[in-house]
Amino acid sequence: MKKRILIIGACGQIGTELTARLRQLYPSHKVIASDIREGDEALMQSGPFEILDATDYSAIEDVVIRHEITEVYLMAAMLSATGEKFPMKAWHLNMNSLFNVLNLAKDGKIDKVFWPSSIAVFGPSTPKRQTPQQTIMEPSTVYGISKQTGERWCEYYFQKYGVDVRSVRYPGLISYKTLPGGGTTDYAVDIYHKALKHTKYICFLKAETTLPMMFMDDAIDATIKIMDVPASKIKTRSSYNLAAMSFNPEEIAQRIQHYLPDFKISYQPDFRQAIADSWPESIDDTEAQKDWGWKAKVSLDEMTQIMLKNLKEKY
Ligand code: SER
Repeated sequence: MKKRILIIGACGQIGTELTARLRQLYPSHKVIASDIREGDEALMQSGPFEILDATDYSAIEDVVIRHEITEVYLMAAMLSATGEKFPMKAWHLNMNSLFNVLNLAKDGKIDKVFWPSSIAVFGPSTPKRQTPQQTIMEPSTVYGISKQTGERWCEYYFQKYGVDVRSVRYPGLISYKTLPGGGTTDYAVDIYHKALKHTKYICFLKAETTLPMMFMDDAIDATIKIMDVPASKIKTRSSYNLAAMSFNPEEIAQRIQHYLPDFKISYQPDFRQAIADSWPESIDDTEAQKDWGWKAKVSLDEMTQIMLKNLKEKY
């Protein structure tokens, strides 16, 4: 088999789980993990690893040539909350890493690219419920602007240069294996940790802030699936809407209280409230379902059971 995969940003929230899954599916030595820093022991022990700066074109090119890489998953990015603190850094990382990978594909050095977009491409003027694939997009965060711009460039590289780039707009992602960093949806991970450790959680969003969310296993399934289907099935070369569940802090807290009756939540909204308020409450992913047969499996209740069971073992 010719396929050799490079994951850039392999030590982050998504990258860690994506690398593990790809190493179950393909021979480990053909799945190269890379990041600006080393990852956890499981990741470091399970296959090849390269220290790699996603903004350094020649460093990526070197790894691609040395390992005869055919596909790149670009998971390195600065998320919404950190992006608001470091706008220029976020723009530099999010855009230059994408250009590096798109240009490698344009020059025929790799065959296929996965690049994630986000619900952050939507903004205050976007319809909030069941947000369609094509709609008004006026993102108000640096992160969102970088993702929307990235989507346009992906489409451009496909149209002009035939680059086989595939993308999904992830909702907030929840996992027990890895922690998110610097996002607005991070509360939905932290809440489970705090519920088990301290039986209380102070939420940085208001009780009624509904956002689209997804359990990590579903996100990894979608990622691998969109990369696996024949190119002819991919009708959207910007990025596909993806949906699983929508809830607000009060609803997730109630689900947790069902299993941990002593759990208490209180609210101290900070600057992330404005970011959350600019995003949709729910997403219509009909096109992804229709074009490449994707469908989420895990509900809020199932996710809560999985999260509490696995984190209980950890603590
Ligand atoms: N989870 C991301 C964030 O909160 C959105 O893509 O920034």
